[in-house]
Amino acid sequence: MGSALKKSSFDKYAAYGAAVQIPQNEAKFLNSLYKNANGAEPTTLREDFCGTFAICCEWAKLGASKQAFGLDIDPEPLAYGMKHYLAKLKPAQQRRVQALERDVLGCNLIRADVVCALNFSYFAFHARSTLVDYFRSCRRSLNRNGLFVVDTFGGPQHGEPSVDTKRLPGMTYYFEQEHFDPINNRTRFSIHFKPKAARRRKRAFTYDWRMWSIPEIRDAMLDAGFSSVDVYWEGTARNGRGSGRFSKRDKGEPCQVWVAYVVGRK
Ligand SMILES: C[S@@+](CC[C@H](N)C(=O)[O-])C[C@H]1O[C@@H](n2cnc3c(N)ncnc32)[C@H](O)[C@@H]1O
Repeated sequence: MGSALKKSSFDKYAAYGAAVQIPQNEAKFLNSLYKNANGAEPTTLREDFCGTFAICCEWAKLGASKQAFGLDIDPEPLAYGMKHYLAKLKPAQQRRVQALERDVLGCNLIRADVVCALNFSYFAFHARSTLVDYFRSCRRSLNRNGLFVVDTFGGPQHGEPSVDTKRLPGMTYYFEQEHFDPINNRTRFSIHFKPKAARRRKRAFTYDWRMWSIPEIRDAMLDAGFSSVDVYWEGTARNGRGSGRFSKRDKGEPCQVWVAYVVGRK
């Protein structure tokens, strides 16, 4: 993490990467979901809302057969990923990654064995009809036995404004829920950073989201034609916090904040 943060100009993507992403774990998790479901290795990944397409780059490292496509509407994070992540791969790995400036609501999405929409990015869709249309086009673009993987979060803490603070080497990270409207589940989140010995970077990233519950996501996937939908719930570590390990579950347990994956099978 540190290098980009030590420079005099603040690098918001480096800070985000350090605070929020563990792309190597995500790539391995997606690979193992498919392997466990189908008894075979997946080849192609499409990372929707890919931002800096860090997961695509980790996917390419998993083997010579792996190919990854990232789609994002914003050229800025794509350019960052080219310079800081793609450029660090071996030439053969680089040739198996493509990042494209595309709207995921467009037609003819690239076909893949696994499609993911992570870091809650599809919360940007506020209407159920848009969510179902997007899920439907993801299902269509999956190869046979393909999986569509999204993450989600919730819990009573998110029914009102709150701030989560994480101290990291070289900076403090804040995930602030600035607003929540229980009538339509619309919410506004911001990410702020306070680098050591530098001014606070307020609202480095902002999100106007609708928080979709697990039953809503499951129903939307089933309406979009997925043959089955599974929920992967996070285990609890000894200190009572999330363990970072997810397993298929039919029942969760109440907690202030939870994170889960919802997986649709074509
Ligand atoms: C919460 S960020 C997540 C980025 C990335 N998945 C990550 O974890 O670093 C959401 C991303 O979705 C992109 N985005 C928003 N609407 C989009 C759309 N309709 N099509 C493609 N990308 C979109 C934004 O440009 C932004 O990079």
